[in-house]
This record gives sequence, C-alpha cells and structure tokens, in this order.
Amino acid sequence: METSVPPTSVVVIGAGLAGLTVALELAQHGPVTVLAKRSLSEAATAWAQGGIVGVLGEDDSIESHVRDTQDAGAGLVDATTARFIAEHSAAAVQWLVDQGVPFSPDPAGPLGLHLTREGGHAVRRIAHAADATGRAIHEVLLAMARAHPNITLRERWMAIDVITSRHLSAHMAGSRAGPPPAAGKDLGSGPSLLERRTEASRCYGVYALDIDSRRVDTLSASAVVLATGGAGKVYRYTTNPETATGDGIAMAWRAGCRIGNMEFIQFHPTCLYHPQERSFLITEALRGEGAHLKLPDGTRFMAQHDPRGELAPRDIVARAIDFEMKKHGLDHVWLDATHLGEAFLKEHFPTIHARCLALGIDIAHKPIPVVPAAHYTCGGVVTDLDGRTDVANLYAVGETTYTGLHGANRLASNSLLECVVLGRTCAAHILKAGTADVPNVPAWDESQVEDADEQVVIAHNWDELRLLMWNYVGIVRTTKRLERALHRIELLKNEIDDYYANFRVTRDLLELRNLVECAELIVRSALVRHESRGLHYSRDFPSTLPVSLPTVLTRPARSRG
Ligand code: FAD
Ligand code: SIN
Repeated sequence: METSVPPTSVVVIGAGLAGLTVALELAQHGPVTVLAKRSLSEAATAWAQGGIVGVLGEDDSIESHVRDTQDAGAGLVDATTARFIAEHSAAAVQWLVDQGVPFSPDPAGPLGLHLTREGGHAVRRIAHAADATGRAIHEVLLAMARAHPNITLRERWMAIDVITSRHLSAHMAGSRAGPPPAAGKDLGSGPSLLERRTEASRCYGVYALDIDSRRVDTLSASAVVLATGGAGKVYRYTTNPETATGDGIAMAWRAGCRIGNMEFIQFHPTCLYHPQERSFLITEALRGEGAHLKLPDGTRFMAQHDPRGELAPRDIVARAIDFEMKKHGLDHVWLDATHLGEAFLKEHFPTIHARCLALGIDIAHKPIPVVPAAHYTCGGVVTDLDGRTDVANLYAVGETTYTGLHGANRLASNSLLECVVLGRTCAAHILKAGTADVPNVPAWDESQVEDADEQVVIAHNWDELRLLMWNYVGIVRTTKRLERALHRIELLKNEIDDYYANFRVTRDLLELRNLVECAELIVRSALVRHESRGLHYSRDFPSTLPVSLPTVLTRPARSRG
C-alpha cells in the first residue's frame, strides 16, 4: 500500500550549517524533521573559526576566487562547481546577514563587513565573526530552527541507515529489516564522474536510534538529506568534534552511492599542542594577519618550502611542518604572533587568546606550540549542484559530500560557503521535485539480536582504528603502509560486522561501523592514486602526473546494505 506524504515531509540528518540551511529553506513551505545524534550545539560548524568566503571586495572577482580554489585543489577542482559556488558567494553571505549573523563589521567594507585573509587567497575575502565565526552562525540558525513551527528537532537521535528499494524487496521476500547482514568487501573504481548509474534505486526514509530510549524508529520521508559532516574522527589527532564519524558517507555507500576522492584528507597545519587540549584549532587567519611559523631556535622555515611562506595552501604548510618535526625530532613547532601586539590579538582573536591564556600560554608574549591534525574530509558522497546523489530522493550537502569544489585540497573558508550555497539549491530542488508516494516501509526488527555482553571490544577497536590511520595513512604515505592498514581494517571490519549482526545497536557501535567503512574508503582510494597530488603524498609515487582524474569508488550491487 502506498501513502502520500506532502512534498516537504523531509528528514534532514544533521544540524550543522548544511542541515540547518536546507531545513530553514524548506520550512517556509512545509514540515521538516532534523536529526542530531548528540546535543544540537555539537557540530563542526560551531567550531569554525576563520570565516566564510564572500567575493565582495572591489579588488576581488569571481575569476580570482575560482583560480585560488583551483590552485589550492591541485588540478582536481571541477571548474563548473567552483564557478557556481563563487558566483553565489555574495548571496550566501548576504543570506547569513539577513538571518542576523553578527559578522565583524567594518563601515568601509563591502556590505559593511570586515574581510580577513587566509592561506591560498589572493585577496581579503573572508567574512568572519572575530575568531568564532562558526559559533556566531550556528547559534543564530539554531535559534531560528528551534522557533520555527514547521521544524521538528530531534536531539540525540542517530540515523542508522537510509531505507532504500533494497529494504523493500528484502521485506517482501520475508527477511527482516535490520540490522542487515554483514556487507561484502569488494570495491571497484568507477570509470568517470560523468557516468551516472542507470540502476533504479530510491530512498523512502531512515532508520534512527533514539539514544535515550534506545528505541529504533522508522521515519518515512519523501526525501532524506545527509548533512552529517566529515570523518575526522577516523584519525587519532583531529580538530573535529565527536560528531565527525563519517556517518553520511558510510550510509550513502551502503545505499549504493558513489564515493569520491576519499584519499584527500586535509590536515590543518596548526592545532594547539597541549596535553589538556588535543583538538583546539589555531586559526589560519592568525597567519593571514602575519603570524610566523618557527623552529625552537626562532628560525622561520616556510620560505624554504614555498615562496608564499606561511600563506601557502594548507597541504604544503602541513607537509612542511611534518618534515621539520621529523628532521629535528620535534613534538611540535611554534607559531609566533607576539609581534602583532596584545591589543590587536585581543580584538581579532579573543577566543584563541582566552583559551591559550587559560592553559598558561599568553600568545601576546609567547609563541604557541602547534602540530598538524586531521581537519577536513575533501571527498565524500558524489552529488550534483542540487545535492542529488545516485539514489533518487536521497540528497547530501556539506562536508559529507564530494561536489568537485575542493579537488585535492580545500581552500580555506570554502567549506562554510559550500554548505550555504548548495544547502539552498538542494532545498529548492526538493521543493521542485514535489510529492512522492512512499510505500509502507518495514519496521526495524530486533528479534534476532541481544544486548552486547561487553563494550570493551568497541572501545578497543575505536582506539586501534584511529591509531593505525594516524600512523599508516597520515600526511606522508607509502604503499606498504597503506597495504598494512588495509589488512588491519579488513580484520576490524569483519569483527565489527559480526558484532553489528548479533547485538543491539548503540551509538558507539554505529559510529565505529561507519568509521571503519570510511577508513577502508580512504585507504582504497589512496592505493589507486599512483602519484602525489594535493593532500595525498606518497613516497613511492612522489611526482604529479600531467593528467589526473578524481577517484570514484562504486560498490558492487550485491554487497549493498
Ligand atoms: P557539521 O557542522 O559537522 O554538522 C554535522 C551534523 O550532523 C551534526 O549535527 C551531527 O550531530 C549530525 N550527525 C552526524 N551523523 C549523524 C547521524 N548518524 N545521525 C544524526 N545526526 C548526525 N570551514 C570554513 O569554511 N571556515 C572556517 O573557518 C572553518 N573553521 C573550522 C574550524 C574547525 C575547528 C573545524 C573542525 C572545521 C572548520 N571548518 C571551517 C570546516 C567547517 O566547519 C565544516 O566543514 C562545516 O561546518 C561542516 O558543516 P556540516 O553542516 O556539513 O557538518
Ligand atoms: C581556520 O580558521 O584556520 C580554519 C578555516 C577552514 O578550515 O576553512
């Protein structure tokens, strides 16, 4: 039996900038449900520091931003995507201003905004709210979503898997809805991004775990939007929050979507090195305003690695720091901002100033100890500019996607921009697509599983996975290390699949299942790239090929979850 659902009975998975943009745009026309697996305030968006790109200044142009995005992306940026996003950047910043986001003002600046600069940008084009831009944006949008009568926010609800045609056919054949059997292992490399899958597959909703009641609910929907953020937690050291476990990428992969460019994990050059603060970012805008990277003896080293010095793109700066740390046997290098002066630092970087001071580092008088850490997932679910994936009615937006914007290395402050621009086009497409008939979807079935006897297996596998990714799949890679990592990942994956098939689901188990899926996608993508480019540097293939394509992985139909 089919039930008609209104065109906007949409489930958005994720309450970061991507998810909230989609939800707020859709809510003008009908009901939307937004899921967030932890507290609503926990998201990478809320931690963003530097700002959001806007091509606004008189000295700026669309061409200049596209060129910088392409240069940073090391030859793998999709020119159409980069141009589309640059052209919509002014409207995106204006949209945020209209919602009430309190960007740092400058009466003489375009739109009355102060623009800062970051690595890889030819001019000042970053709108920001001091050094806590993400918090300013997130607080405003979240407050709007909370107050909106058409938006239902489900906090501490975790999406497990999207419901697709496969679940319906399995149900009709008499098998249970979930948890599904262990997935197959073989992967193939897709021929080209332009080749679209012809196989008919549709999304009808999502299975989601209410963390507090431990109940799994079946949410039918005319469309589902994956806005789950990145996968930084796959690494031992990361700037990312707890939410970044690659859930959207893993769910889309299990549903049969193509996944692109997962080898390109961006390591941010300057994460604070401190035993009590392992994930605190020191914004690139500090280097944009003139801070210097130094060795313990006070020598600057970036000029030896790139003529742009501290303002070279991130892949180059992170690799240079990694090189210097290994060469001199250091735990960290220093970022010196003391010459910028106390008043300037307090005004422009109040959050960093206060947080470091609380840890005993007065950045106005002492250099800051910094190390690179995993920061941004450049690859993800392959989508078009409307957020459409390979599965009908399943959309994806934000860090969880691969749209072609970031290529082999993301340009600073392009991520928040992508969330807003494509969040809005995605909502417009969903509205245009109209009503969908949703069949009765099978309920989650736990009749064949029991409570896990011990959680230590999960905790142990989490640690093992994240450490092996850090040691074997980091800034500098070798084929041997990647193969070792893959072997270990396959063993872990079998163990986790077995656990998933036999025990009642918990958030830790689901996150681990998704992380190991993402780890495998990263390693397999890295193994098929026989060159060094952007964020992927291999000692076995140190040169850059004259022509190169994105890495696109396609999961064979028989192993889809
Ligand atoms: P997120 O903001 O991460 O939101 C993800 C949401 O999905 C969360 O609500 C989470 O709870 C939810 N979720 C995840 N999985 C599930 C699930 N299974 N079920 C239910 N809910 C789920 N970019 C810039 O452009 N400029 C910057 O200055 C900048 N600074 C940064 C600083 C830091 C420290 C970090 C970590 C990132 C920074 N970035 C910056 C990157 C940028 O913040 C992110 O890429 C962007 O905010 C991602 O937004 P998103 O909406 O895609 O995901
Ligand atoms: C930063 O402020 O350094 C992060 C900016 C970004 O990730 O785009």
